Amino acid sequence: MRRGLMSSSSFRTIRKVHGLGLILVFSSKEIHRVVVVVIAVGKLVMVLGISLIGAEHRCQLHGNFTDYHPFIYLTHPPEIIRKPSNQGVRVGGVATFFCGARGDPAPNIVWRKNGKKIMGTQSRYSVIESNGVSMLRIEPVRAGRDDAPYECMAENGVGDAVSAEATLTVYEPDKTPSGFPVITQSPTTRVIEIGHTAVMQCKATGSPQPKIYWIKDMKRVDMTNSRYSINAEGSLQIDNSEESDMGRYECVAENSVGTEHTKQTNLYVKVRRVPPTFSRPPEPVYEVMLGGNLSLACVAVGSPMPYVKWRQGVDQELTPENDVPVGRNVMELTNIRHSANYTCVASSTLGIIEATTLVKVQSLPAAPTDVQISEVTATQVRLEWSYKGPEDLQYYVIQYKPKNANQAFSEISGIITMFYVVRTLSPYTEYEFYVIAVNNIGRGPPSLPATCTTGETGIVPP
Ligand SMILES: *[C@@H]1O[C@H](CO)[C@@H](O)[C@H](O)[C@H]1NC(C)=O
Ligand SMILES: *[C@@H]1O[C@H](CO)[C@@H](O)[C@H](O)[C@H]1NC(C)=O
Ligand SMILES: *[C@@H]1O[C@H](CO)[C@@H](O)[C@H](O)[C@H]1NC(C)=O
Repeated sequence: MRRGLMSSSSFRTIRKVHGLGLILVFSSKEIHRVVVVVIAVGKLVMVLGISLIGAEHRCQLHGNFTDYHPFIYLTHPPEIIRKPSNQGVRVGGVATFFCGARGDPAPNIVWRKNGKKIMGTQSRYSVIESNGVSMLRIEPVRAGRDDAPYECMAENGVGDAVSAEATLTVYEPDKTPSGFPVITQSPTTRVIEIGHTAVMQCKATGSPQPKIYWIKDMKRVDMTNSRYSINAEGSLQIDNSEESDMGRYECVAENSVGTEHTKQTNLYVKVRRVPPTFSRPPEPVYEVMLGGNLSLACVAVGSPMPYVKWRQGVDQELTPENDVPVGRNVMELTNIRHSANYTCVASSTLGIIEATTLVKVQSLPAAPTDVQISEVTATQVRLEWSYKGPEDLQYYVIQYKPKNANQAFSEISGIITMFYVVRTLSPYTEYEFYVIAVNNIGRGPPSLPATCTTGETGIVPP
């Protein structure tokens, strides 16, 4: 069965496949899809099985495969899907022939004139290929020399090469046949802002009424692009323009009598260039509670829009290099244990800017210590204390009450010194005093109590 298959297919190519060995690829007019399984043993290559998909029969693979690599190889002979059309052109004008082909592998398209291959480098001749369509352009067209059939030939090593032919007829300027296209309005150089709409004007008369198409930078304008449209008269409208729309445009009017090109005209798209700036930089300092969360937002603008990333300290990158957001980057910090500097970096081709923010871990103040009482009289005492805790205190609070009385504490708030004289106490009473430190987060715990008994009335301290 295998032998039968091999003889019914025509042997085409031998290919090397990633060091595995050789793969023999078969194809025939009817069968274009071949699966070949090979095994490489040293330098010896054995074809162990061939399966023809899409064919009537399908071979089972046999054998003990310890190292085999199925390899699907698709082939399709070339096919011309767009034939060049005959053209009539004035002397000094432009002739363009288009030829499109498909196949697998992608076919190679060559142009021939009188059986001789046309080189794209020949003066007056250019061959430009884009998206499987090859364009032969002759400019300027000369009488006597360019009148000829032109042949487009496509080949890809599978099956036979295919070709299509079209003829160029050259007219003296004053001898164009009646109905020959006449361009009545040509495009003029346009300068537009990016994002705006551009209209390249073109109008033509002729009989039959010519059809209009556009060429940009020697390639046919891709009208499948939804931003492009050609109005009833023939003008090309480009909506929401992009930098890539910039180029040299020409309008082509064509009917069954002939073809006429306008001159190439430039379209400029002005691109605004704005270096990055922060529209919302992070605040210089954020204060958070120990173990707290914070979301740090950094927003930057510019044209082009900048990339925005975060860095901790001097050099610890926090935004993955392969996923840097554009314009805005919000960083979520959770369970913050330590104060740190975070830097937002916005960069575009026009520059790099940075803004640093300090995330400061805040905690409540510690309790004041070492509360000392002195200068005791019948109605007042002097308190003095120490403090060894987080900085940035706002003030101290003293709370006091007679020790044995079941009453609320009196409170003196807003003390910004580390001593205080408490007045209007009752004579001969035992008091207890607490000192509390306050910062912008709140009140810390009270100090240990300090107690003392006020003096009797009339007794003046020494
Ligand atoms: C296939 O070959 C391997 C290695 O030579 C061997 O160990 C295994 O038994 C063979 N399997 C069969 C089904 O023959
Ligand atoms: C911080 O965020 C974590 C996870 O998102 C959450 O479990 C935790 O309760 C948050 N902590 C605070 C103080 O909001
Ligand atoms: C943050 O940066 C400032 C200025 O460079 C520096 O003085 C400070 O020590 C830094 N703080 C931290 C927590 O790294």
